[in-house]
Amino acid sequence: MDKFVIHGGRRLSGAVKVNGSKNACLPIMAAAILSEGACSLHGVPHLADIDTMSFMLGELGVSVNLQGDSLGLLVEDEGCSHARYDLVRKMRASICVLGPLLAKRGCARVAMPGGCAIGPRPIDLHLRGLKAMGAEIELHGGDIIASSKRLRGAEVFMGGPFGSTVLGTANIMMAATLAVGTTVIECAACEPELSDLAAFLNAMGARVHGAGTPHVVIEGVEALRGCEHTVIPDRIEAGTFMCAAAITNGQVHISPVRLDHMMAVVDRLRAMDVIVEKAGDGVEVSCARRLAPVDATTQPYPGFPTDLQAQLMALVCLADGNSVITEKIFPDRFMHVAELARMGAQIHKEGPTVIVTGCKKLAGAPVMASDLRASAALVLAGLAADGETVVNRVYHIDRGYERIERRFAALGADVSRISD
Ligand code: EPU
Repeated sequence: MDKFVIHGGRRLSGAVKVNGSKNACLPIMAAAILSEGACSLHGVPHLADIDTMSFMLGELGVSVNLQGDSLGLLVEDEGCSHARYDLVRKMRASICVLGPLLAKRGCARVAMPGGCAIGPRPIDLHLRGLKAMGAEIELHGGDIIASSKRLRGAEVFMGGPFGSTVLGTANIMMAATLAVGTTVIECAACEPELSDLAAFLNAMGARVHGAGTPHVVIEGVEALRGCEHTVIPDRIEAGTFMCAAAITNGQVHISPVRLDHMMAVVDRLRAMDVIVEKAGDGVEVSCARRLAPVDATTQPYPGFPTDLQAQLMALVCLADGNSVITEKIFPDRFMHVAELARMGAQIHKEGPTVIVTGCKKLAGAPVMASDLRASAALVLAGLAADGETVVNRVYHIDRGYERIERRFAALGADVSRISD
């Protein structure tokens, strides 16, 4: 298992490129199941999760061909519609093959995703939505077995106790493209990745209206064709680099960035006295003084994203005062708290809220990565800490950031990957 060894305390400077969005790519790749023709996807990041989805699509009869950052997808065989537990347990986003398989092939067998380091991840809303569209669904041996001669349009509500579901909205949106009649999704998730999915579906000939708002209308069509699409820049990766510039008192040009996708993040960073300025197709982020403390609550888009909660927490560990961070999407997503404490952070968790009293310096320590974003937070802390930090189990970070150690090193960080 690989680990990162970081010698902290270097200011980051220079320019870094942001990859295409992982969370846009994954459902878009699954959507290729719906198509009669070849699809080309550009801006695809080289990540473990993309490999897992490619492998799974291969088993589902889709040929997947990666060249550079372009991915060719073509359905060659509709014989197998079984997404196996061995793959689903590696990556929960595998659930987004359920809607496309059911809509296109009339049947799907998808392993039910289990537990996860960031807390319970139910899929009841996905299943309720598909049932409303006429699917018959049962659970057998840990697999969801879904069937329907042809789905029909329905009114579907995607709100849950912690807000709207992102991949649930994706699943219903994809399934509805080939249904008979019109589907209306109320309380749809509004994340930019869903607007990107809708753009891809519409390029295939689907009729999806209102994506990116809570009210999405999909008129079913008879068939979808191949298409070409470039995915949006990864707003979480961009936000992680913004935090890296800030935590090291550095100055980094980050591009491409869709600032309109990142207003909540920029708002919190500016409240900490981080300078974020639009520059070309990206942003220039710098911070020459000690960070100001800040309060933040994660919310569905356009609120502050849960996927940047851990990284922001690393930042406030070094702020000049008390900060309060509340997690409203995944109330148990706090595995990084105990690890940051190992580095000297003054940090106190109370239910879904963490109170951090900023300190002047963090101290390097061996720490354990537990999930993708928590690992990114530990790397950020290591970049700023005195001495040596060893982040173990970085396979988590490889799921969502392409060779992040090389990109930080190119900005002046002292970080290297060690393979056991
Ligand atoms: N929820 C339900 N019922 C459901 C589905 C979700 O109660 O049927 C709850 C969840 O337990 C959670 C909340 O609703 O409390 C939101 O979950 P959501 O379904 O929106 O999460 P997701 O679609 O499974 C995507 C991202 C996550 C990101 C969340 C929230 C992808 C591949 N994953 O997950 O990304 O944290 O939305 O924005 O798009 C990551 O990239 O590190 C990551 C975890």
